[in-house]
Amino acid sequence: MTLEVRDLHVAVSGRQVLRGVSLTVRYGEVHAVMGPNGSGKSTLAYAIMGRPGYEVVKGDIRLDGESLLGLSSEERSLKGIFLALQEPPQVPGVRVSTFIIASINKRMGADDLTRVKNPLVLKKIYDAVKNVGLSKDHLTRELNVGFSGGEKKRNELLQLLLLDPKVVILDEPDSGLDVDGVKRVAEIIQELRERGRAVLLITHYPRVLEYVEPNNVTVLYRGTVVAKGGPELARRIEKEGYGFIK
Ligand SMILES: Nc1ncnc2c1ncn2[C@@H]1O[C@H](COP(=O)(O)OP(=O)(O)O)[C@@H](O)[C@H]1O
Ligand SMILES: [Mg+2]
Repeated sequence: MTLEVRDLHVAVSGRQVLRGVSLTVRYGEVHAVMGPNGSGKSTLAYAIMGRPGYEVVKGDIRLDGESLLGLSSEERSLKGIFLALQEPPQVPGVRVSTFIIASINKRMGADDLTRVKNPLVLKKIYDAVKNVGLSKDHLTRELNVGFSGGEKKRNELLQLLLLDPKVVILDEPDSGLDVDGVKRVAEIIQELRERGRAVLLITHYPRVLEYVEPNNVTVLYRGTVVAKGGPELARRIEKEGYGFIK
């Protein structure tokens, strides 16, 4: 089954940003969404996640055949959809460890969100921290406060690895990362695909696609789909830029 976006029209602050976007992301596949700045890629991600203020005016978003439109972001998250943000916000006063433990506990339906009862979970957290290229000290820092661009991206990946969602949306996960970071992102995406997760990979610059060959590519421009294809479309964009769609 799949995540399906059908003829999606989205308005933000009364402004029509998406005008009829359709795409399908299947389990075990990577679907790349590309397009120049301002084409509506992040808006698509927020609309799928149900971010308040992103009003679906027309169309539908379905997970495994069921519409998500009536559900809150939290309910969508509990259904197994995860969005790694392009620009994760700073949350002063909240430690990374507190945030991560609360999200894991919430996902497992625990009453107490503050404590880790199972030592295996603690081990999983330490392993994931290492896996995304951060140190244990990272867990004691305030969420995204003073993080470098790369640390913010790695912290989003940390949450992703620990929550293990079935549908993963990555909004420009490679921006701000050095080459090793981009390769790590690509490996994580590859592992997710192999484990049957559905991956919607948003990138405006096709750098990460050098390391992960997408199954499908959809190109957005000014809120509509202007091209669809396979990996060859990503390669064309890499060579020619977006000139051919304008
Ligand atoms: N909160 C908002 N208020 C008004 N306009 C917005 C808002 N969010 C996005 N937009 C507009 O929607 C368009 C698409 O933005 P976005 O989805 O961020 O594009 P992309 O991620 O492809 O760069 C842009 O023109 C942007 O200015
Ligand atoms: Mg964006």
